[in-house]
Amino acid sequence: MSDTNGPKHRVRLGPVQETLFIPLAARARESARKRPLLRDPKAVEMIGAIDYASDKYGPGPGSAITVLRTAIVDTWVRAFLAEHPAGTVVEIGTGLNTRFERVDNGTVHWIDLDLPDTIELRRRFFTDTERRRMIAASVLDEDWLGTVEESPGPYFFVAEGVLVYLPEEEATQALTRIARGFPGALVAVDTYPRSLLEKQHQQAVKKNMEARWAWACDDPRSLERYGLRAIEVTSVTRPPHALRTRLPLRFRAFLPVADRLLRSLFTITLFRADSGHA
Ligand SMILES: C[S@@+](CC[C@H](N)C(=O)[O-])C[C@H]1O[C@@H](n2cnc3c(N)ncnc32)[C@H](O)[C@@H]1O
Repeated sequence: MSDTNGPKHRVRLGPVQETLFIPLAARARESARKRPLLRDPKAVEMIGAIDYASDKYGPGPGSAITVLRTAIVDTWVRAFLAEHPAGTVVEIGTGLNTRFERVDNGTVHWIDLDLPDTIELRRRFFTDTERRRMIAASVLDEDWLGTVEESPGPYFFVAEGVLVYLPEEEATQALTRIARGFPGALVAVDTYPRSLLEKQHQQAVKKNMEARWAWACDDPRSLERYGLRAIEVTSVTRPPHALRTRLPLRFRAFLPVADRLLRSLFTITLFRADSGHA
């Protein structure tokens, strides 16, 4: 465990890799609240131990949306594990995510995939175990799919806050490979319309951030042509019932307004890789 009072870890990450601090800072801030939507002590530990650019990536007005997105995916993964306690969850572009810590049932198998510099940072805080391992690779590589096959099915692939940074043909190529290689698997992906990409670009310029969203997807159902069947298309402002019932009051007050303004902007979709797809 890292000593948050000791010298902080210096990190050198690529521009897109650095964006991992956005959800990390959001989860750490949420955890410090009196009635948090999720508790993530490991995020608090890591954010306190790393020397990162908090002016660019620190908690901001979008934190509530980011935390809700993560909580929605946690809910889906827990439901998957309730049915398949020893299945495999693959966290694509994991960053310093701590979903395993939040949902581990003692039997799940887990793969955290990210680019080599991110995995190098991740290894300072996490270690591989019998049920959990890290892979340093791009989602665009093919070798990691073979490693996933060695882990027991069924499979749940999560790509949260990742594919939006890739050009459309790369994002859809990655989804196609997963769909073809793992029929029946669940795949969770967040998508954003072109109007929000333009806003992200303005925000990035303002904050001096190099990373730019690249993949606009106005309708997640359009991804069905890549061998995926949408089984739940929702907005971050419309959490599934299982989560809605345990939202802290703060979120319950904010969601109706957020839903009116942002519903069509922050879509998150649960797909099933369609084994019948040609
Ligand atoms: C905004 S962060 C999201 C991190 C994590 N999913 C979370 O929600 O906390 C984006 C992540 O995508 C990773 N990433 C970017 N391009 C990637 C690629 N081609 N293959 C794998 N990971 C990638 C980055 O290194 C970074 O960790």
